[in-house]
Amino acid sequence: MAINSKIIATGSYLPEKFLTNFDLEKSVETTDSWIVERTGIKKRHIAAENELTSDIATKAAQSALTKAGISANEIDMIVLATTTPDLTFPATATTVQAKLGANHAFAFDIQAVCSGFVYAISVADNFIKSGQVKNVLVIGADTLSRIVDWTDRNTCVLFGDGAGAVILQATTEDRGIIASNLHSDGSLNSILKTSGGTSNQKTGFIEMSGKEVFKHAVEKMSKSVLSALEQAGLTTKDIDLLVPHQANARILNAVATRLDLDSEKVIMTVENHANTSAASIPLALDFANSQNRIKSGDIVVLEALGGGLTWGSVVVRW
Ligand SMILES: CC(C)(COP(=O)(O)OP(=O)(O)OC[C@H]1O[C@@H](n2cnc3c(N)ncnc32)[C@H](O)[C@@H]1OP(=O)(O)O)[C@@H](O)C(=O)NCCC(=O)NCCS
Repeated sequence: MAINSKIIATGSYLPEKFLTNFDLEKSVETTDSWIVERTGIKKRHIAAENELTSDIATKAAQSALTKAGISANEIDMIVLATTTPDLTFPATATTVQAKLGANHAFAFDIQAVCSGFVYAISVADNFIKSGQVKNVLVIGADTLSRIVDWTDRNTCVLFGDGAGAVILQATTEDRGIIASNLHSDGSLNSILKTSGGTSNQKTGFIEMSGKEVFKHAVEKMSKSVLSALEQAGLTTKDIDLLVPHQANARILNAVATRLDLDSEKVIMTVENHANTSAASIPLALDFANSQNRIKSGDIVVLEALGGGLTWGSVVVRW
């Protein structure tokens, strides 16, 4: 019998501290109305000084484990999507493993920037479908506040910190992840990148050509969703819920328009936490789940685009 991967629980965590647009008005030349009009963002959460990516990832994971009713020891594999690891090595996923006490798992990070969660859940799905693992903890967690230049108004208003997680479990039921696609185009890496790394022994800051990224995001995410739906033998009319990467409300609306989707079918949480990179989809998914917006059998589509450029979509029959 074919093995599928179903999402049995979601969890998320946002740091306590947050900065509103009005707070940012005091440090850079910007206004609340500019930020809201161009992005839909009203606030972003910021990790405490001693709060690391592994800490917020662990909190989101614990919340998902509790809701799944399984213990950390039952997890076979941990995949953490992050662009802001605690250290260059070891993988932050192994630190999360230790913090959770997930002693029977193997753990590794995935680096696909804002597409990280879509990449991570696709990799986990394939490990499950091959029969190698049964329970996978898939996490997206980022502390982008640590790689933002807080004097650059072009970028600092857009990003925030957060973490989200899902438990993916093997099933022989006819549900779970039914289609996915992943893409990248490295020739576009200069339009969204950091200014640091081993090349200059600095962590660096986010640098972005906003307009270029915007254009690629709308076009590539829409196409990716359509091709994943086609792979699943579905059309946009079958979508019950679209859970996009939360980058900018205008990007989300433009994708929804291209897909001819009503706005009530699109989960929009960017207002409350800005762009949290790999964390944004699991944060939005956990929000939708906690609001009882997802019923058994619903078609839920996840989609993202990020630095690389990387992009992709996942279709889930819930
Ligand atoms: C960044 C973004 C919000 C800018 O919106 P936009 O409509 O493209 O705005 P523009 O780039 O045309 O900028 C318009 C003006 O606003 C200014 N501006 C930029 N940031 C500003 C801010 N925070 N406050 C006020 N003005 C700002 C620009 O300097 C520019 O001024 P100029 O015309 O004098 O040069 C938008 O391009 C975007 O969201 N892009 C995608 C970013 C993204 O999602 N990245 C991550 C993907 S994973």
